[in-house]
Amino acid sequence: MHSPLARVAEVHEMLGSTQERARELAHAGTPHGTLVVAEVQTGGRGRLGRSWGSPKGGLWMSLVLRPAFEASHASRITQTAAVGVAKALWEIGVEARVKWPNDLLVGGKKICGILAESSAENATVSAKGRRLDHVILGVGMNANLDPAELGVPDREVTTIRSELGHDVDLLDLLSTLLSDLDTELGRIEDFGAVLSDWRNLNCTLGEKVRVRRFDDTIEGRAVDLSEEGALLLVTRCGTVELFEGEIEHLRQGEDA
Ligand code: BTN
Repeated sequence: MHSPLARVAEVHEMLGSTQERARELAHAGTPHGTLVVAEVQTGGRGRLGRSWGSPKGGLWMSLVLRPAFEASHASRITQTAAVGVAKALWEIGVEARVKWPNDLLVGGKKICGILAESSAENATVSAKGRRLDHVILGVGMNANLDPAELGVPDREVTTIRSELGHDVDLLDLLSTLLSDLDTELGRIEDFGAVLSDWRNLNCTLGEKVRVRRFDDTIEGRAVDLSEEGALLLVTRCGTVELFEGEIEHLRQGEDA
């Protein structure tokens, strides 16, 4: 596979989690553009410590990135990756929308999740500022699967197979995905352009939402993203800027 994001590649039939394997490789000094793929994960992880069902047929992968940009731009990675993943899905005929911060949905059902974990350990400080040592970017794509295989209620998840009515070649999908991720990550410093695509591809803006954070829940209307990709929420107490959180889109009539 010729991609700058797959300079080093490991493909496993079975692994606990590609995220953990990529982290091990990162600590051992693997270069930017290291790809770990597993056909099956026995301990796949989602955000907030949740487990992530990863049977055979999905595309389960993690990338080791060594960003050349300022550590303060780390929060841009999830939205930038979400734009890349959404574009890859559109290219294969799946009209996916980004639900802030890191989900790809089709008709309100999740088809893909993104997990960006950055590490400031060993960050280097130079005249150009502080650099992240590495970021592990995990992508879990429900591809050639039936929703029932994923261990979550069918109304919450969908798969490429259900959306297209046929399976896709996982290598072709991986190649499209890497190409789109590489393009989007390459323009992360021109984040205004990424955000403009994000606005066209999202399904969160304009929605009434409930956001769960570590210690509280906020409700409001999602109105925009900030210049750094934080969600701007208009609440009864004013506008709140959120960098993290689990959001639920509320139906019309529910409080917000
Ligand atoms: C989420 O929506 O909660 C993020 C899910 C991320 C899942 C992927 S699958 C490949 C990589 N390995 C993991 O253990 N998790 C990520």
